[in-house]
Amino acid sequence: MRILITGATGLIGSHLIPALQQAGHTIWLWVRSPAKAHALWPELHAVSQLDQLPAPDTFQAVINLAGEPIAAKHWTASRKQALRSSRIDLTRVLCEWLSKAPRADRVLLSGSAVGVYGDTGDQLTNEKAPTTGTDFASALCRDWEAAALTQTTAAGRVVLLRTGLVLSGAGGLLKQMRLPFSLGLGGRLGNGGQFMPWIHAQDYVRAVLFILDDHRLKGPINLCAPNPVTNREFARALAQQLHRPCIFPVPAWILRAALGELSDLLLTGQRCQPAALTEKGFTFEFATLAEALDNLL
Ligand SMILES: NC(=O)c1ccc[n+]([C@@H]2O[C@H](COP(=O)([O-])OP(=O)(O)OC[C@H]3O[C@@H](n4cnc5c(N)ncnc54)[C@H](OP(=O)(O)O)[C@@H]3O)[C@@H](O)[C@H]2O)c1
Repeated sequence: MRILITGATGLIGSHLIPALQQAGHTIWLWVRSPAKAHALWPELHAVSQLDQLPAPDTFQAVINLAGEPIAAKHWTASRKQALRSSRIDLTRVLCEWLSKAPRADRVLLSGSAVGVYGDTGDQLTNEKAPTTGTDFASALCRDWEAAALTQTTAAGRVVLLRTGLVLSGAGGLLKQMRLPFSLGLGGRLGNGGQFMPWIHAQDYVRAVLFILDDHRLKGPINLCAPNPVTNREFARALAQQLHRPCIFPVPAWILRAALGELSDLLLTGQRCQPAALTEKGFTFEFATLAEALDNLL
């Protein structure tokens, strides 16, 4: 397939691109800096403007991952605008471009996150759950998904990648947590009861390849392992894997004082199930957190 990818130079792209190349796909990148992309993948086509790409109907698949990092800075009004614009506006522009040349057998895989459900406590949450959260992250994901769904008329399939925390040895959450936990300073956040849906980066990549091939899959798809854990269980498992104690909880009020609204990301959660994937026969190589951490650390 000829595949267009946005947000390619990020953590997920760095796992996905080699696997797509190995599967024999031809990859084009729409990036902010073609020079940066070429430094990573000299053999790939990278452009900064959509009009530098071949016609939209020459692409069989589009994978849309671009977005400012959500937890990198405090959620000031201007930061929120940057988080929204880098996802929602970019997705609208991409879809307008795609709609210039509709193609019934094209698939758009567009980014989203399990945060779209809002805080669902300990209720089991599959793709049929309502996405009516009132917090910033939920509204962001909802509007991001809505921007992608405008493409349904121009593409045969639109898939919303409702992604959990991607566990990778190369970056992301695990890398950030590793230092304090290695120093024996790890612990739960708040009361630790909030669920943390997670997925091993290798399973994320396998799931994307599965979705590209299985034409029955469309609409929202939870990309998370079948065994989400609470933050308390996650902290304990990580500490155990690193042979360190897990005795320094961070109270919710400290997180709220230090991070403001961004602390919602750490103190709320979803007990998500990958129902759409498992119903279609997808199996996870890393179904439990212990297996994933054992592989990655
Ligand atoms: N990693 C996770 O655990 C996780 C979980 C849930 C959802 N997601 C979502 O999945 C997507 C990919 O995740 P990731 O971990 O690979 O993210 P990442 O490492 O932060 O990379 C995101 C990419 O988006 C592009 N980007 C950043 N700011 C941008 C801007 N202002 N305008 C346009 N493009 C911009 C960049 O690509 P270029 O420089 O190549 O253009 C960047 O490499 C993100 O949208 C993220 O919200 C990730």
